Amino acid sequence: MELTFAIEGTDPGTAARAGRIRTDHGEIETPIFMPVGTVGSVKAVTQQQLQSDVNAQIILGNTYHLYLRPGTGVLSKAGGLHRFNGWPRPILTDSGGYQVFSLAENRKITEEGVVFQSHIDGSRHLFSPEGVMDIQRAIGADIIMAFDECPPYPAEYRYVRQSMDLTHRWLDRCIARLADTPDAYGYTQNLFPIVQGGTFADLRKASSEYIASRGAAGNAIGGLSVGEPEEQMYEMCGLCCSFLPADKPRYLMGVGTPWNILESIALGVDMFDCVMPTRNGRNGMLFTTEGVINIRNKKWADDFSPVDPGLTDSPASAYSKAYLRHLFVAGEILGLTLASLQNLTFYLHLVREARVHILAGDFAAWKAAILPRIKQRL
Ligand code: GUN
Repeated sequence: MELTFAIEGTDPGTAARAGRIRTDHGEIETPIFMPVGTVGSVKAVTQQQLQSDVNAQIILGNTYHLYLRPGTGVLSKAGGLHRFNGWPRPILTDSGGYQVFSLAENRKITEEGVVFQSHIDGSRHLFSPEGVMDIQRAIGADIIMAFDECPPYPAEYRYVRQSMDLTHRWLDRCIARLADTPDAYGYTQNLFPIVQGGTFADLRKASSEYIASRGAAGNAIGGLSVGEPEEQMYEMCGLCCSFLPADKPRYLMGVGTPWNILESIALGVDMFDCVMPTRNGRNGMLFTTEGVINIRNKKWADDFSPVDPGLTDSPASAYSKAYLRHLFVAGEILGLTLASLQNLTFYLHLVREARVHILAGDFAAWKAAILPRIKQRL
C-alpha cells in the first residue's frame, strides 16, 4: 500500500505535529530520527540493538554506497536490503546525489545526469534520474529519494536557480521512471521529492511549490546544514514548511544536532537523519540528558557516575564515564559501540519526548526548558 500519514496532534505554541506514517514494513511515529546505515549497517551497532535498545523505527541506506558495494546484483539476489541485512522495519534510501557531490571524484554534471569516479577504486559511472530509480528499486527501500543536485554554500543566485530547475526536471524523470517500473519485491516504494534553492527565499518558495505540485506521499527539504549560519537554516526550513502540504510528512535531510532537531520540529518537520550521533560518537562526543561530553577528556578518568544518569534505558548507562573513557583511551572497539548506542538512544529518546509533549500541548515550554541543558558542554 502507498505510504500514508495521519496527524495525531498539533502543538498550539508552534508548528510542531505528532503523526503516524504507515508503510508496508510497519509504522513510524513522528517526529522521528532515522539512524544512518550508509552501506546497510549503522556503524558499530547490530540490527538487534537498533530494535531493542535504540528503538529505531526506520533506518537509512545510501544509493551511492550500496551501488558501489555490494552492488545491485547481490541486493536483487538477496531479495532486497531488508532481507540482506535482516532489518525488518522500514528503510529509506538517499538517492546518491548528495554523496556524488561530497565523495566522488572528477564529477561532471550534465542534463543527462552526473558522471563520476568511485572514491573506492576510481572506476567511472553515470548516475541519471532513471538509473538511480532502478538502483533504488533493486535496493528495495520503503521510501526512496529523488535524484537531486545539492548546491554548495555559498553559491551564486544564478547557479542555485539553474541547479534548482535541473533538480525539478530530474524529479519529473524520476516520477516517469517509477511509473514505468513495478515495485521490485511486492511492497510499495514511495518517492519523496527534494526541495532545493539554497539560501534564497524566492527560490525556496518556488521549489517548495513545484515539489508540492507533484503530489508525492511525502516531501523532503535538502540543501541545508551545508555551512550556512544556523539562523538562515531555520529561516529556509520554516519557509519550505509553510509551502509544503501540511498533510504529508516533511523530512529535513542531514540535520543535525539535538537542538537543530527540536527547533526544526517546532517549524513543522517530521523526519530527520544525520551521521552526527554515530560519527561524532565514534570520536568520543557524547550527547546526554546532562549536556555534551568529550569522553576522552581527562576529567572523566575517575568519574564513576553512569554515562547518562538521566537516560537509564541507554545501554551505555550500565557503565561509568570512567570506564567508557578507558575504552576510548585504550582503543577498544566496545567504546565505539557504547558511544554510538548512547547517542542514538539519546536522539530517539529526544524525538519520543518531543512527540509526548506535542500531544500534551506543551511542546514549546518543554523545548525552552531542556534546550539550555542539552546544549551545554560539560
Ligand atoms: N542529505 C543532506 N542534504 C541532502 C540533499 O540536499 N540532497 C540529498 N539527496 N541528500 C541530502
